[in-house]
Amino acid sequence: MTAPPRGELRVLETPQAVAAALADLFVAEAHSARKDRGSFFVALAGGKTPQAAYSLLAGAERRDTIDWQHVLIYFGDERCVPPESDESNYKMAFDSFLSQVPIPAQNVHRMHGEDEPVRAARAYSQVLAETMGEAPRFDLMLLGMGDDGHTASLFPGADPGTDGDQLVRAVFVEKYGVHRLTLTPPVINNSRHVIIAVEGAAKAPALHAVREGPYDPVKYPAQIVSPRDGKLTWLSDKAAAGLAG
Ligand code: 6PG
Repeated sequence: MTAPPRGELRVLETPQAVAAALADLFVAEAHSARKDRGSFFVALAGGKTPQAAYSLLAGAERRDTIDWQHVLIYFGDERCVPPESDESNYKMAFDSFLSQVPIPAQNVHRMHGEDEPVRAARAYSQVLAETMGEAPRFDLMLLGMGDDGHTASLFPGADPGTDGDQLVRAVFVEKYGVHRLTLTPPVINNSRHVIIAVEGAAKAPALHAVREGPYDPVKYPAQIVSPRDGKLTWLSDKAAAGLAG
């Protein structure tokens, strides 16, 4: 199968520059969505990479330019842990910026990692359908990528594309022996703009394989990300782009 478009790769000098670029893209998309459609629907990435960008969003220079009343926050995936766990993507986002911006609590839609996974996935599908309709279309979808080429909680070894019309999937990640919840490719690829932020030399082989290698999304699930009617931007530091001096 021929590979879908691989999106634009923007290589920044340092992780700090990646964080600033990510925060600025978030602000730009928030302004654009607010102006064009009234509200800004965004799905946050978990893991460590986006934390610095989230902290920048809590800074007055960016925070005070956003109309948080009209920002609707969702999550791309979640670990099946309670929200107070240090493993929780929700806790990471809450601590990094959601607790420091004037966003109404009801605007933040947390995946219930503390609940039985299949039930939690079904419940989150309902939240998406009730708040965004049967074909949720995010203005901005933030993602990361592991050094094995996974994204969200779509991990190697399982065909990421087998969903039909499921919006949220409960997965068991053999590699870590844990359950997770994840948005599915139909939702991810219905976004207006997907940004995948990648940092560090350890990810350089996967980033090269995902963007330049043969199309094999079972081996490299991040390859499944290709917005049907939207934009894909990769943000990478020099190390992850294999350009570190
Ligand atoms: C998660 C993320 C996951 C993450 C990658 C990269 O729940 O961990 O959704 O897909 O984006 O594993 O993680 P780092 O940013 O920590 O390297």
